[in-house]
Amino acid sequence: MTDESAQFPSRRTVLQKVLISWFALLLLPALYAVLQYVIPPKLRERIIESILIARMPDVPATGIKMVKFNRKPVLLSRTAEGQIKAISGVCTHLGCIVEYNPGQNNLHCNCHGSVFTLDGKNVSGPAPRPLEAFRVEIKGEDITISIIKG
Ligand code: FES
Repeated sequence: MTDESAQFPSRRTVLQKVLISWFALLLLPALYAVLQYVIPPKLRERIIESILIARMPDVPATGIKMVKFNRKPVLLSRTAEGQIKAISGVCTHLGCIVEYNPGQNNLHCNCHGSVFTLDGKNVSGPAPRPLEAFRVEIKGEDITISIIKG
């Protein structure tokens, strides 16, 4: 005599497996939605390290010219000697965008009050370090900036 229960699972076991599979299938869309929320989408723009960003006449003698580099603001300005400087417009405190303050000819972060000089030095407020500087190359009238690594 053979034991049939050893060869075939019981009705209860089959029903449990079907219910667990059905429940798992129900959870897949919710899991997909959670993963879409947690994992950021791929960048739509190509990340580049060097770009022709402006032309010399675009940069005012006083004040700044704001441009975008890898989707972030970059501030172009001229030194007293006429040299072009390029610094990030992203505050080094918590990442807000700084604004040009024409009255004091400096950069101000409205989030927590940090103040920077036009060449990016942090002079007051909670910002822990200067604004990120970019390498500037000038060929004729063209201004190219690139990330300074290291
Ligand atoms: S983010 Fe700029 S001062 Fe806080």
